[in-house]
Amino acid sequence: MHSLMFRANAVLTFGITLLAALCCLASLSDNLHYTSPSVDLQILHVESFQRLPNGNDEVKLILNITADLQSLFTWNTKQLFVFVAAEYATPKNVLNQVSLWDIIVERKENATIWRRTRNKYSFVDQGNNLRGLDFNLTMYWNVMPLTGAMYTGKFVVPGFKLPQQYR
Ligand SMILES: *[C@@H]1O[C@H](CO)[C@@H](O)[C@H](O)[C@H]1NC(C)=O
Ligand SMILES: *[C@@H]1O[C@H](CO)[C@@H](O)[C@H](O)[C@H]1NC(C)=O
Ligand SMILES: *[C@@H]1O[C@H](CO)[C@@H](O)[C@H](O)[C@H]1NC(C)=O
Repeated sequence: MHSLMFRANAVLTFGITLLAALCCLASLSDNLHYTSPSVDLQILHVESFQRLPNGNDEVKLILNITADLQSLFTWNTKQLFVFVAAEYATPKNVLNQVSLWDIIVERKENATIWRRTRNKYSFVDQGNNLRGLDFNLTMYWNVMPLTGAMYTGKFVVPGFKLPQQYR
C-alpha cells in the first residue's frame, strides 16, 4: 500500500516535471521565433483642434492604421493587445503618452490590420501644449502566450506635427 502511494506520487511528480519542462521549452522556442511586423501609421486629417473649457487641449484625428502582425503569432500565442499612442515631450514631462486606439487580435488571420479611423480615445493634453506640437505615433503590441511570459514590442513613426492654431 505504502509503496503504491509512493509510486503514484513519483509518477505524478514526474508528470508535473515533464509538463513544466514542456512549458519551458514552449516559451523558449517561442522566444527564438523570428518576427517581422510591418507597420504604417498616418494622419489623414486633423478633424478638430480646440481648447476645452477646463483649459486642456483636445485634438481629433483621422488615422490610417496599417499593420501586418501575423509573424507575431506562433502556436503558443493566445492573443495580441495592440495599441497606438501619441508620444511627445512637454516642459513638464520628458515623455507624455496618450493612447489613441487599440484592438485585441485573437487569430493570426486577423493580424493584418487596416483601419481608417477617428482616434477611439481622446487625445487630450493635461494643459495646453498641443499647438505646433511635434510628436510620434507608436504602435505597441503585447503578445500574450498560452504558456510563458508576455512580451512587448513597438514600432515608432516619428515626425508628426499639430497645427499652430485651434480650428
Ligand atoms: C493608408 O495607408 C496605406 C499603407 O501605407 C496606404 O496604402 C493607403 O493608401 C492609405 N490610405 C489613405 C486613405 O491614405
Ligand atoms: C520620437 O521619435 C524620435 C525618433 O525615433 C526619438 O528620437 C524621440 O525621442 C521620440 N520622442 C518621444 C517623445 O518619444
Ligand atoms: C477574424 O477572422 C475571421 C476569419 O478568420 C472573421 O470571420 C472575423 O470576422 C475576423 N474578425 C475581425 C474582427 O476582423
